[in-house]
Amino acid sequence: MGASTAAGLQVVAALPCISSPRRMFMSRAALATFNVKIIKQALANSSNTFSLQSHCNKYLSSSNYHRVVTRAMSGETENVASHGLPIDLRGKRAFIAGVADDNGYGWAIAKALAAAGAEILVGTWVPALNIFETSLRRGKFDESRRLPNGSLMEIAKVYPLDAVYDTLEDVPEDVKTNKRYAGSSNWTVKEVAECVKNDFGTIDILVHSLANGPEVTKPLLETSRRGYLAAISASSYSFVSLLQHFLPIMNPGGASVSLTYIASERTIPGYGGGMSSAKAALESDTRVLAFEAGRKGQIRVNTISAGPLGSRAAKAIGFIEKMIDYSYTNAPLQKELLADEVGHTAAFLVSPLASAVTGSIIYVDNGLNTMGLALDSPTLAA
Ligand SMILES: *[C@@H]1O[C@H](CO)[C@@H](O)[C@H](O)[C@H]1NC(C)=O
Ligand SMILES: *[C@@H]1O[C@H](CO)[C@@H](O)[C@H](O)[C@H]1NC(C)=O
Ligand SMILES: *[C@@H]1O[C@H](CO)[C@@H](O)[C@H](O)[C@H]1NC(C)=O
Repeated sequence: MGASTAAGLQVVAALPCISSPRRMFMSRAALATFNVKIIKQALANSSNTFSLQSHCNKYLSSSNYHRVVTRAMSGETENVASHGLPIDLRGKRAFIAGVADDNGYGWAIAKALAAAGAEILVGTWVPALNIFETSLRRGKFDESRRLPNGSLMEIAKVYPLDAVYDTLEDVPEDVKTNKRYAGSSNWTVKEVAECVKNDFGTIDILVHSLANGPEVTKPLLETSRRGYLAAISASSYSFVSLLQHFLPIMNPGGASVSLTYIASERTIPGYGGGMSSAKAALESDTRVLAFEAGRKGQIRVNTISAGPLGSRAAKAIGFIEKMIDYSYTNAPLQKELLADEVGHTAAFLVSPLASAVTGSIIYVDNGLNTMGLALDSPTLAA
C-alpha cells in the first residue's frame, strides 16, 4: 500500500477533485462514476462560492451564457527552427518522470520538448509500464506522437520508476515480490539515475510530473497521518529525491520543472487528503532547491501551476466539465486550456530563453488564479 506513484495522476494537479489511487486499475467509465460521486458528496455542502451544483447549472445554461472557444494561439507551430526567436533544445536530453499514457501534462511536455529538438527519456510508474510500452509498440499512440513537422516523437528509452522509493533498501518485501513489480528492476530513484548515467552519461532537463494522494477524496480534516504523509512522499519528496539523484549528472545550465496546482495557496474543496499540502511543499521546495541547485550545479528550478485541462478524458467526467466551465466563465481568458499550452510553457522554462528564471511558480491557467471574484456568482445576478 502507498507504493504507487501513479504517473497519470498529474491530472490531479490539473483537475481538482479527480483522483484515486485506484485510478490505474479502473476503467475510465468506472473512474468517472466513482469520482463524480465522491465530488458531489464533497461539495454538496461546501461554501457558497462552491455551490456550483445548484446555482451555476442554472446560470450556465441561461441564454446569456455563451461559451467562447478559442483554440490555443500557438497550436499550429510551424518549423520552430526556421525563424524568429525559437525554442531550441537540440542537443539537450530530457528525463521526464511521470508519463504513463498519451493524456495529460507529462505527455504534452515530452512532445513540446521533442518538437524543440530534445532527446526524450521517460520514467513510467512500474505497474503501468507494461501497458505503456505495449501501446507504444503497437502504435496506439502514433497519432498523439505526431510533432508539428509531421515526424513522430521518439522516446529514446522508457525507465520503470517508482519515485516513492529512493534506494532498493527502502523497498518493502511485499512490494519487491508483488507481481506488478517483480518483472522490473532498477526502478528506485537512485537506481534509475544510475541507469540513465550508464546509458546516456548526462541529462540537461528534468521534468517531474508525478502525484499521488491515496486519500485525495477525503477532506483534510478527515485525512489520516498515513494518507497525508503518502501524499507528501509521492507528490513532493519525489521531486527532492529526483533532483538530488539526477543533479550530479545534469549539465550546468540545465533546468528542471514540476507541476503544481492553485489548491496549494487557495482553498479548493475536494482537493483533499493532504494533496493541497503536498503542492504547497512542492512550491516552497521549488524556491529552496532553486537556490541550492543553482549554487551547486547552475541548474534552474521552476514549477508550473496549471489550470483544469480540457482533455477528452476530462470532458467525459461530468463534474470536470463544470470546473472547466467555471474557468471559461470566470477567467480573464475565455478559452479552453490545452495540454500543449502547458507543454509549450515547460519548453520555454527549460530553454536558454528562460536563463534568468528560477524559483518561480508560473501560472498556466488562462489567468484564473488572478481573480478575486466569481463573475457567475448568483449574488451578482440579483
Ligand atoms: C448542510 O449542512 C447543514 C449544517 O450541517 C445541514 O443542516 C444541511 O442539511 C446540509 N445540507 C446538505 C445538502 O447536506
Ligand atoms: C521534426 O522535428 C524533430 C525535432 O526537432 C526532428 O528530430 C525531426 O528530424 C524532424 N523531422 C523532419 C521530417 O524534419
Ligand atoms: C541494474 O543496474 C545495474 C547497475 O547499473 C546493472 O549492472 C544491471 O544490469 C541493471 N539491471 C537491469 C535488469 O537492467
